[in-house]
Amino acid sequence: MDYIITTEQLTKKYKNFISVNKVSMHIQKGSIYGFLGPNGAGKSTTMKMLLGLTSPTGGSFMVDGGHFPDDRTSILKKVGSFIESPSFYANLTGRENLDIIRRILGLPENAVNDALELVGLAEFGNRPAKKYSLGMKQRLGLAGALLGRPPILILDEPTNGLDPSGIHEIRNLIKSLPGLYDCTVLISSHMLSEIELMADDIGILNHGRLLFEGSLDELKQNAVQAGFAADDKSSSADLEDMFLSMIDKDNAARKQRARL
Ligand SMILES: Nc1ncnc2c1ncn2[C@@H]1O[C@H](COP(=O)(O)OP(=O)(O)OP(=O)(O)O)[C@@H](O)[C@H]1O
Ligand SMILES: [Mg+2]
Repeated sequence: MDYIITTEQLTKKYKNFISVNKVSMHIQKGSIYGFLGPNGAGKSTTMKMLLGLTSPTGGSFMVDGGHFPDDRTSILKKVGSFIESPSFYANLTGRENLDIIRRILGLPENAVNDALELVGLAEFGNRPAKKYSLGMKQRLGLAGALLGRPPILILDEPTNGLDPSGIHEIRNLIKSLPGLYDCTVLISSHMLSEIELMADDIGILNHGRLLFEGSLDELKQNAVQAGFAADDKSSSADLEDMFLSMIDKDNAARKQRARL
C-alpha cells in the first residue's frame, strides 16, 4: 500500500485527560479518508497534530515520507487545511481574503481566480465576506485550503452548519478533488451517512481511540457479519445503526473498566 499519512500510536494528553489515545492511522495516497466520531472523540485534536498546530505527547507520524517533527517544515508545506469554522476578514471581499493567503504562499495571481472557480464562488468573489452565507463561507474556506493545490487536504467538518443542498454541493466538490488534481483528502464528520457518500476508507474514533479502520466495503461486510444488515445489502441506516452500536458498546466497556 502506498500510504501518504501514517500515524504510530499518536497520543495527546492534557494534564490528566487523554484526548487522543495511541491512534495508528493509515491514509492511502489519492484516497478520501473519512474520520468519523462523536463530539469530543479527538478528531480535531488529531488533525491539529497532523498540521503542527499542537504537539503530540506520544507517538509519531509520517507525511509523504517525511517524519514529524524532524521534517516539520517540508511536511507543513504539503498540507492545506480547514479546521473547524474558518475565519476571514469580514470587510474584505472573498477575492481579497484569498489574495492574502496567495501572497503568503508566494503563488501567482491567477491562483485566486482558479480557486474561486473551483469552489463555485467566481461570481461572488467581489462581495465582502461578511455578506457571504454560511455555505459560501465554507466554500471560501475550502478555496483557501486548495489555493496552493497542496497534495494533502485536511478538512475538519467542512459541511458543519450547512443545509442539505449546501452539504450536497460541498460533498460533490470534495468527491471531485482527487480527480481534479493529485491530492489526498482527510475529512472529519459526525455522520457516517455523510462520510459513506465520499470516503474510500474510514476511521472511527471514540474517546480518543480508533475503534475501526478499513475500507467502506469492509465496514459494510462487518455490518452484515454483526447482523446489522442482510447479505451485502447494507443500507445507510444499517451502517449508521452499527456505528452507533459500536460507540455505545465502547462507552459501556469504558464505564465497566472505570468501575473495576
Ligand atoms: N486545549 C485543550 N485542553 C484540554 N482539553 C482539550 C483541549 N482541546 C481539546 N480538548 C479535549 O479533547 C477532547 C477531544 O476534543 P476534539 O476537539 O479533538 O474532539 P472532536 O472529535 O473534534 O469533537 P467535535 O466533533 O465536537 O468537534 C475533548 O474532550 C476536548 O474537551
Ligand atoms: Mg472537532
